[in-house]
Amino acid sequence: MNVLRGNQGPRYRHAPEASAPYDSITVDRLTPIIGAEIGGVDLSEPLGNRARDEIQRALAEHLVIFFRDQDITPAQHLAFGRLFGELHVHPAAPHAPGEPELMIIHADANSPRANGEGWHTDVSCDEAPPMGSILHIRTCPPTGGDTLFASMYAAYEALSDRMKAYLEGLTAIHDGEPVYRGTYANLGAADKPVYPRAEHPVVRTHPVTGRRALYVNRGFTTRIVGIPADESEAILGYLYEHAENPLFQCRFRWRANSIAFWDNRCVQHRAMWDYWPQTRSGHRVTVQGERPL
Ligand code: SIN
Repeated sequence: MNVLRGNQGPRYRHAPEASAPYDSITVDRLTPIIGAEIGGVDLSEPLGNRARDEIQRALAEHLVIFFRDQDITPAQHLAFGRLFGELHVHPAAPHAPGEPELMIIHADANSPRANGEGWHTDVSCDEAPPMGSILHIRTCPPTGGDTLFASMYAAYEALSDRMKAYLEGLTAIHDGEPVYRGTYANLGAADKPVYPRAEHPVVRTHPVTGRRALYVNRGFTTRIVGIPADESEAILGYLYEHAENPLFQCRFRWRANSIAFWDNRCVQHRAMWDYWPQTRSGHRVTVQGERPL
């Protein structure tokens, strides 16, 4: 993999040192690139502004953050999500009864599929895709069911300067139709007449950190605009393979009542469905984002 520049070390940057000490939470990195476990907070209690701001800062610095032993109710989960913005309603997936913003994540012995099995960014087919996703897993299989997360900052930074120049200014189509049509029929969710489709920059600038991130994913991106179809296919194939380099990843092992909060603007993720016929179950609350720049 061409991620090294001579003998000067990796082209991609490590997550920055904390810009200031954390007072109200603890932050324990999983890797130098992505992921940190947060301690010292009980999300079943109302969160003060300082803890909220520090969690937001930890998310910006580490891209995906994890909480353990959070025995929260759906109402507390929704309230936690609302601290970070308006909540997003999934265009296709089933939700808890009467709670459109509480998406069900569930797989068991009868499931023909599980959520998020391929690398993707949540609902990138929306004009304004979700900023972040907050997944609370209540029931875990005895082993398996991990989620992998990958830094799209690192993926972008590790590209060659020539590839960066080539991608500059390109946009790509992200289409929900092939992903969602019929996907949730087994769970009783009727198909919508149309699903979202949007055109986004291939490289986006994060509105908080100012860092550039690769923004194409196997799940939703169908083609790069303005180049021949075969060239688009080849470039996307290269970018997907590049973005899936384990150097850019962390892997989270769930326990009952763990939470993962990831930033969809700079992270892709993939859920492992390696635990059939066991059950894995929880809810996802998704925070609305902005149009990618
Ligand atoms: C998803 O939100 O894509 C599902 C992730 C997971 O179940 O780990």
